[in-house]
Amino acid sequence: MNKARRIIKDTMSEVDLVIEVMDARIPFSSENPMVAELRQHRPCIKILNKSDLADPEITKKWLAHFDKEQDVKAQALSVLDKSRTKNLPSLCRKMLPDRGTAVKTIRVMIMGIPNVGKSTLINTLAGKTLAKVGDEPAVTKVVSSAQHRIQLEGNIVLSDTPGILWPKIENANSSYRLAITGAIKNTAFDFEDIALFAADYLIDAYSERVIERYKLKQCPEAGIDLLEAIGRRRGFLRAGGIIDLQRASEILIHEIRNGSLGALSFETPEMIAEETAINEVD
Ligand code: G4P
Repeated sequence: MNKARRIIKDTMSEVDLVIEVMDARIPFSSENPMVAELRQHRPCIKILNKSDLADPEITKKWLAHFDKEQDVKAQALSVLDKSRTKNLPSLCRKMLPDRGTAVKTIRVMIMGIPNVGKSTLINTLAGKTLAKVGDEPAVTKVVSSAQHRIQLEGNIVLSDTPGILWPKIENANSSYRLAITGAIKNTAFDFEDIALFAADYLIDAYSERVIERYKLKQCPEAGIDLLEAIGRRRGFLRAGGIIDLQRASEILIHEIRNGSLGALSFETPEMIAEETAINEVD
């Protein structure tokens, strides 16, 4: 991480504006505070990406939350709505009104943790598919290098290589949420553990969806009951009629990720304020 930080810091002198990409379902957990430290006074567009998968009412709250930050404009985006993405250059110009002219270029760098949609965004802006860089915490090529420069309308240049940072995992809830949404690779966690966390949350926040999706008469009281109900419904039984919780867990996580339960958000600004306050007392 120190290496990534150092390289991005060196590159910053050639950047006028940062686009930070986050996952709209978990904006707090997918944000990296190092971006604020690295960009300093430079304006920042915070993209709540994958907004097609996130709860629209909660996304509105997050947009209002981030818009209060200094030099920040927040924007919800989705790969399904390319026209909104194409408006980004005009937002860049609004944020730096004295640049983006024939004589003054706006140099833009995209940053964020792995799997939030940075490459997809770069491809949409470039209008072509570029080779994806590895998901190591790394490294951006300097924006001024012609080889790595994407020329956007209105004298805006974008580095074709994003600045990749690891997610900060400040509390256990963030690591669960990153795992549920797929930002942390499957091998790094125990599916049942993650599915239990997800099931408890869904029962609390989206009980109607749970009842509808899994054709239940009523919402189970606890996550474990939901996993058992899913296993029973889908016939995931081991010898002796024991419910296969591993398979039920995999199904739940898969269906959360592919949108079968509808658009879901896993954290709200209020939840995070509460969790932060509790962590501070601890
Ligand atoms: P990264 O550079 O930040 O690591 O992320 P990348 O663009 O590779 O996107 C990670 C995954 O998220 C990809 O899916 C991509 O298609 C998906 N994605 C990106 N933007 C959006 C969005 O707005 N909405 C939704 N629903 N998905 C989005 P993948 O399964 O890893 O690959 P593939 O299925 O596209 O091949």
